[in-house]
Amino acid sequence: MNQTPDFDRLDRALAKWPRVTLTHTPTPLEHLPRLSAHYPAHSLMLKRDDCTGLAMGGNKARQLEFYLGEAQVQGCDTVLSTGAVQSNYMRMLAAAAAKLGFECHIQLETRVKSNDTDYLESGNVLLDKLFGAHIHSFAEGEDEHGADKKLKQIADQLAADGKQPYIVPLAPVEQPKGALGYALAARELAEQFMQQGIEPDMIVVGSGSGLTHAGLLTGFRTLGMSIPVIGMCVRRPVEAQYPRILSTCRKVERMLGLEEVVKEFDIEVSDLALAPGYGQVSQKVVQTIQDVAALEGILLDPVYSAKTVAGTLMMLESGMLEDKNNIVMIHTGGTPALFAYRKQILSLPEFGL
Ligand SMILES: Cc1ncc(COP(=O)(O)O)c(C=O)c1O
Repeated sequence: MNQTPDFDRLDRALAKWPRVTLTHTPTPLEHLPRLSAHYPAHSLMLKRDDCTGLAMGGNKARQLEFYLGEAQVQGCDTVLSTGAVQSNYMRMLAAAAAKLGFECHIQLETRVKSNDTDYLESGNVLLDKLFGAHIHSFAEGEDEHGADKKLKQIADQLAADGKQPYIVPLAPVEQPKGALGYALAARELAEQFMQQGIEPDMIVVGSGSGLTHAGLLTGFRTLGMSIPVIGMCVRRPVEAQYPRILSTCRKVERMLGLEEVVKEFDIEVSDLALAPGYGQVSQKVVQTIQDVAALEGILLDPVYSAKTVAGTLMMLESGMLEDKNNIVMIHTGGTPALFAYRKQILSLPEFGL
């Protein structure tokens, strides 16, 4: 590899942040030979963060290591957070809380209007219940601040009842500690590139709250690596996601004691695969889930990882990536949500329904 990563610089910057181990890392970095064969000039690889090992895996396990590390240091006994009904974050928080002995409260927001019992009761919701989480509901899923306000009220009530609550934030905060988990993942990837002799031309990652995207990008730049990191929008269009990522990178830099290692031109976002909107799937996304399952034996999820892969394939198919031979996509997990989207998946013509 042309750029030797400065591991010491990143290690020093991360050293002061408390962390608890929840993940099985390193997760594999795998070549996708049968999918790549459909794009002869390119080699497609997948970083298998669906294999992080906590409760069916996913990116949030890396983020929670830093939040729950802090909750332990602060002597908290209860954790709470807010997310969509089929949130993977809430499922993994519930599992991590069970593992570490925290009481757990999760607020499920109605971001996707649905009366489908698969959506409302299966997938992540079923698992939330298995992990013993206390479930609260919030009807206005697009009101990020309203959801936070209601969560704060629940936390205040828990405190009044004698608990020591710790809120895991989802909306932007001054210290987005979860992003540190992905600065660390950048380190893990850099090691794998060296070990496997890979020179990646770009990385593609789902971009929702943006902590995974901003953490990876800041991590690579701290290591002194200039590899492009493209955020595939899963919740907001480019106009809203770009400033969100820029501001998150600046916050992560401050947490790492660094200044503007990420340049404005480093922030690349695409909303090619976003339509018809958050948590809703297009025919291309469902087709991508089926293709990757049938060609590689790998399960993508409908809300995040399938949009990441579908968006990459759409870029390839439209000739936008002609100079990008080695493409690494991040599988951020979310597989349990497949069961919540049973009807949409079965709507493919080949299933004959
Ligand atoms: C499976 C999965 N992938 C990707 C994301 C997006 O990650 P981030 O919120 O860090 O942008 C999420 C967020 O909930 C997720 O659950």
